[in-house]
Amino acid sequence: MVPVRLTGPRLAMREYHHTEGDVDALHALFGDPEVTRYLPFGPRDRESCADQIELYLEQAMAEERDTYRLAVTRLDDARDPQDAPPIGLASLTLGTHRAADLGYVLARDHWGHGYAGEITALLCDFAFRTLDLHRLAARVDVDNAASARVLAKLGFRLEGRARHDQFKDGVWSDSYHYALLADEWPGPDGRWHGNGHGDGGRGREPGSGG
Ligand SMILES: CC(C)(COP(=O)(O)OP(=O)(O)OC[C@H]1O[C@@H](n2cnc3c(N)ncnc32)[C@H](O)[C@@H]1OP(=O)(O)O)[C@@H](O)C(=O)NCCC(=O)NCCS
Repeated sequence: MVPVRLTGPRLAMREYHHTEGDVDALHALFGDPEVTRYLPFGPRDRESCADQIELYLEQAMAEERDTYRLAVTRLDDARDPQDAPPIGLASLTLGTHRAADLGYVLARDHWGHGYAGEITALLCDFAFRTLDLHRLAARVDVDNAASARVLAKLGFRLEGRARHDQFKDGVWSDSYHYALLADEWPGPDGRWHGNGHGDGGRGREPGSGG
């Protein structure tokens, strides 16, 4: 396996380790019902989080890797990013025709600092520049306004609303489907040049008719 390491202005991403610290951190994330509120699964116990990490490592070692589950750490943590406890998880799941689905989850203490935007930008760079993908998609519960905002700010376009595409705790919910194509991502200077809507990079918000 070639371990993935990504570094942004404030955050780093690395492979998960099967250590007590990483299991605790994943449990702090997936054990919190507020965090899993819009995810397709409910809160997970510690044992199931340990199993998840085992699965992530198996996926990382696959001969043709198509799944990335990366631990997100803070650069201002005194420890090396390889050892710092994860505050969140970033994911990329490759499909056919150079396409992938992306996702991000942050521990509640770390919401509201723009970290999800930084994670998504790092995933876009990795997907388009390193993996040479053509299309990145994300599915967002229609009530998850913060996540929709993260994607719209980075230029993801709203492609539609899928009705009842999630069933959880006996309730159906709808999702917004967003996507970004490789040629819509900033050039090598790393600057965002707008998203073609003439709206200052804000993208098209759900409910605006898309
Ligand atoms: C969704 C999530 C990733 C957002 O992370 P974050 O780092 O707090 O997001 P950011 O700070 O980068 O940006 C959030 C944006 O949404 C806005 N926002 C936050 N809560 C909002 C709300 N209830 N309604 C509307 N906008 C909201 C913020 O103001 C910010 O916009 P701004 O930069 O224009 O001010 C985080 O809340 C989370 O991990 N949630 C649980 C897991 C999850 O839902 N993951 C996404 C699955 S699709």
